[in-house]
Amino acid sequence: MKKIFWLLMLLMTFIMTGCNDSNSKDSVNSNGKIVGVAMPTQLAQRWIQDGDHIKSKLEAKGYTVDLKYAEDNIQTQVNQLREMINSGVSCLVVASIDSTALVEVLEQAKQKNIPVIAYDRLLMDTDSLSYYATFDNKGVGILIGRYIEIALNLKNTDRTFNVEFFAGSPDDNNAHFLNAGVFEVLQPYIDSGKLKVLSGETDFDTICTLRWSRETANARMTKILQTYYRTEKIDAIISPYDGISYGVADALESAGYTVGFDFPIITGQDADLQAIKNIIDGRQSMTIFKDTRQLAEKCVTMVEAVIEGKVPEINDTITYDNHKLIVPSFLCTPVAVDKNNIDSVLIQSGYYTKDEVHN
Ligand code: BGC
Repeated sequence: MKKIFWLLMLLMTFIMTGCNDSNSKDSVNSNGKIVGVAMPTQLAQRWIQDGDHIKSKLEAKGYTVDLKYAEDNIQTQVNQLREMINSGVSCLVVASIDSTALVEVLEQAKQKNIPVIAYDRLLMDTDSLSYYATFDNKGVGILIGRYIEIALNLKNTDRTFNVEFFAGSPDDNNAHFLNAGVFEVLQPYIDSGKLKVLSGETDFDTICTLRWSRETANARMTKILQTYYRTEKIDAIISPYDGISYGVADALESAGYTVGFDFPIITGQDADLQAIKNIIDGRQSMTIFKDTRQLAEKCVTMVEAVIEGKVPEINDTITYDNHKLIVPSFLCTPVAVDKNNIDSVLIQSGYYTKDEVHN
């Protein structure tokens, strides 16, 4: 009996010590340093992929990852960052909701010597920032503009076309860069009269879409169609994001446009699976593919650099001025996708399977 009692006691002590150990921060740290990854929202497919890729790539290198989504709530993101800082992360990767809203919390990171990497969206007005991993955001806009230029044969035609413009969220630096690219290509055609904007709405503050919201875009498109296109047809809508394109397409269908008959050209960005299906069905014309695997890879090299004293590859040291410093950046290359290159760009690269795209 006595023997059994002592054996049980020994077992209990073993279990309790084990439990304590696995809960302590030391044991987490011994598994690898913790990297906090703050993502804006799970509403858009791309951020889910970004988060997943960063997490798996960092874990493969032995890091522990604290991945959080803030569902487009700025205060939630601030709180998540504060918690990560207090929990002793070794590095922060941040894709912000509002690029100027994190100055204070990032200052706390700096006080604790926690390096910060801006992911896809630049963090503005802060010097608590080491590197920026992104795509060529103006390049995205140029690709969208060129797509319209070619699709409407603007260089050679004498025709005029009715178009309307949408831009992204005003608090997202990317939205401004993208819009600059679009207008760099298309403004000359507006000036020459080949492109007509019946609403007259072309300045960023009027065409921007807070939080890149599908609903806001739908409401604006509906109003524009009701006000300016009662007798005229619209030929193209320049949209900077697949979610906005969905809102635009819904408004067009409600106004009586029919896919495959008189549906206008609609651009987009992100190569969402739904957008790819819409392109195949003729409900959207193109999108911009930003390979989140590649961006995550670049981001991971930056995390390693700041934690382990390595030097990451940088390919831009002049473009991204956040009002405090010019942030050393790596710009990945965006690719325009329409129905002609879905297979070669998205399926052959393994980004989507044939089944996902065609079913
Ligand atoms: C990203 C885009 C994305 C948009 C909306 C931007 O910051 O660069 O890829 O479409 O946010 O989520």
